[in-house]
Amino acid sequence: MGGGEEGRREREFGGFWGGLACFRLHKLAGERRKMSDPMHVRSPAERVARLREGRETGETVTVCGWIRTRRDSKGGFSFLDVNDGSSLEGIQVVADSNLPNYEAEVLRLGTGCSVRVTGALRESPGQGQTVEIHAATVEVMGWVDDPDSYPLQKKRHSMEFLREVAHLRPRSNTIGAVARVRNRLAMATHDFFQERGFLYLHTPIITANDCEGAGEMFRVTTLEPGDPGCAAAAGGIDFAGDFFGRRASLTVSGQLAAENYACALTNVYTFGPTFRAENSNTARHLAEFWMIEPEMAFCDLEGDMDLAEAYIQQLLRDVLEGCPGDMAFFGKWVDKEVIATLEHVVESKFERMTYTEAVRILEGCGASFEFPVSWGADLQSEHERYLTETHVKRPVILTDYPKEIKAFYMRRNDDGKTVAAMDVLVPRVGEIIGGAQREERTDVLDQSMRDAGLDREAYWWYLDLRRYGTVPHAGFGLGFERAVQFATGLANIRDVIPFPRTPKSAEF
Ligand code: 4AD
Ligand code: MG
Repeated sequence: MGGGEEGRREREFGGFWGGLACFRLHKLAGERRKMSDPMHVRSPAERVARLREGRETGETVTVCGWIRTRRDSKGGFSFLDVNDGSSLEGIQVVADSNLPNYEAEVLRLGTGCSVRVTGALRESPGQGQTVEIHAATVEVMGWVDDPDSYPLQKKRHSMEFLREVAHLRPRSNTIGAVARVRNRLAMATHDFFQERGFLYLHTPIITANDCEGAGEMFRVTTLEPGDPGCAAAAGGIDFAGDFFGRRASLTVSGQLAAENYACALTNVYTFGPTFRAENSNTARHLAEFWMIEPEMAFCDLEGDMDLAEAYIQQLLRDVLEGCPGDMAFFGKWVDKEVIATLEHVVESKFERMTYTEAVRILEGCGASFEFPVSWGADLQSEHERYLTETHVKRPVILTDYPKEIKAFYMRRNDDGKTVAAMDVLVPRVGEIIGGAQREERTDVLDQSMRDAGLDREAYWWYLDLRRYGTVPHAGFGLGFERAVQFATGLANIRDVIPFPRTPKSAEF
């Protein structure tokens, strides 16, 4: 910046803010010290576990959270089960009748109220917990206005009911556990790719191209019904008058953009929301879901499959190690087999077979399917599940699908009939990953685009990648919610994303 008055003021200003920032940093550092100090346990199990390991009880701790239950003892005190969501277990607070607000407040505390409790941490003589807090103060932060109408009572609620109270359901054991597992899987994803030198890439959410070519896109527009562009000629809407001057949509995949970056930076991955306007009311489809899409230059289908297998195994290993309490909960209440299934997948080599072999197996297996199987038809969930659950009993990677049922960008095989596609199928969920080696030959890609009826002009930049230093490259997309479904054993995909978007449903 310049000198003179302006410059001086700026320096002073900078100095002032600099000083403040320093002060705040100092304060923050202090807070951070306090929080990471087990003296300052704010919360249940995980932090208490640290206390249990090395520290004497008797220290003063502060816990903030929501009451799950209150029990009053004849001995003149109450037990409060306080949970702050850091783990499945809460911490037991013993509130003595000597507390000044015992009669007026503690005895009115019920499920859902929020509190801040300070007191001594002691070994617990009771069953079900090793330590408890003997409260010196119980500060009520928020009451539940009408306890009878509070939707989450201390009982088992159905998953359907919890969906109706999606704003409160993170306070339930199941959805809390899902949130922690989901978080862990996201961390494991970044760890996996970062450890291998992949760059995290942010691809656009608004796009003018349809990567999967299925036409199941949500339109993005600022046109209003009365606008001249909307009342356009018989051909329909005139997008020239729209915000982007062309038809724009929410993306179904970040792949095409990721290919551009892989063809410069070699290994990249995206992790973002994707949108599909397919009218599928199933337990494994969402209109808005998150996808992880690695894209690798100098990589073929084999390398793509190796990466997919290693990634899934690391995700599951990580969640088993990192969320033992939550996984035990899912094993007890959701799916008795879930832990054994994940352990099995972590240790198994994934079976690899071609689509053609799979169709032969399905045709000869004698099982009765709702949808018929024949070469050329897309596999349905029931077929995928038969292959992975019954036929090989571990994950299967199917390759080399007929070109007619796959997207335009997949590399054509020499047989003229199939493409270098791969889908990873896992028990219960079916397809969890879809991927391919990409067509890197300009003339072949051009033909595939013609066959798919795409407007090649609009994809000039995608074709440029093939014109300027083309390389073999490959990638895949993992449906994040399907991975969370698989890891938790939950039957419905609507229960593994905080606020599911499905046909006719976007309330919260
Ligand atoms: O198989 P898909 O359509 O592949 C692609 O989008 C590629 N562009 C990926 C790539 O090669 N970069 O979708 C990938 C995965 C599926 O295997 C599935 O797990 C998940 O995304 N998926 C959905 N998940 C929830 N709801 C939906 N409607 C989904 N559609 C796909
Ligand atoms: Mg697919």
